[in-house]
Amino acid sequence: MHNQRLQRQLPQIIDDLASQGWSRQEDFLPDTLTHELAAECRARAEKGALSPAGVGRGQGLAVREGVRGDHIQWLEPGQSPASDQYLTAMDELRQALNQAFYLGLEDYESHFALYPPGSFYQKHLDRFRDDDRRCVSAVFYLNQDWQAAQGGALRIYPHNHEPLDLLPQGGSLVLFMSAELPHEVLPASRERLSLTGWFRRRS
Ligand code: OGA
Ligand code: MN
Repeated sequence: MHNQRLQRQLPQIIDDLASQGWSRQEDFLPDTLTHELAAECRARAEKGALSPAGVGRGQGLAVREGVRGDHIQWLEPGQSPASDQYLTAMDELRQALNQAFYLGLEDYESHFALYPPGSFYQKHLDRFRDDDRRCVSAVFYLNQDWQAAQGGALRIYPHNHEPLDLLPQGGSLVLFMSAELPHEVLPASRERLSLTGWFRRRS
């Protein structure tokens, strides 16, 4: 693997996932790339490319603002150099997770997400009842200088542990086991940007 930054971060990520089922890594990507991705998320929002996110999957998909208030757009290869670099980094992480845990992760799906001020995502699990492919969740944050007083934490509910609030600080990556860790997004007083995605295995 030529990604030296990831190489440096991997031991901690693997240890954390093995021991507690979640991991938070600061400065997961170079600042320049994080800034480019943030600018891209804003540009996509400004041209109206983001849509209210649905809940559930397939026929059960419904937009329910009481449950989640974010606006999203799925990433596809070839949309921009920055988003392609992001997909490459996540593919390297996918391969590393497979080597460490034999998870058989086949692919990665991801979307930009923008939470307008005051919006939230109620407590949930990321694995669908009718589709068990999502195995590891990954949220990469795009918000510069986030302050605790601005709210917007990712609140996680680990087994045998009190809930923890993780701030959506730009450059940080949170990983967790999709089927196991209940979590929610608390409302914020400012716009909250991220790239949220899932490493998936064969169904
Ligand atoms: C999700 C989610 C967490 C976050 O999109 O499923 O839980 O911190 N996002 O944005
Ligand atoms: Mn979630």
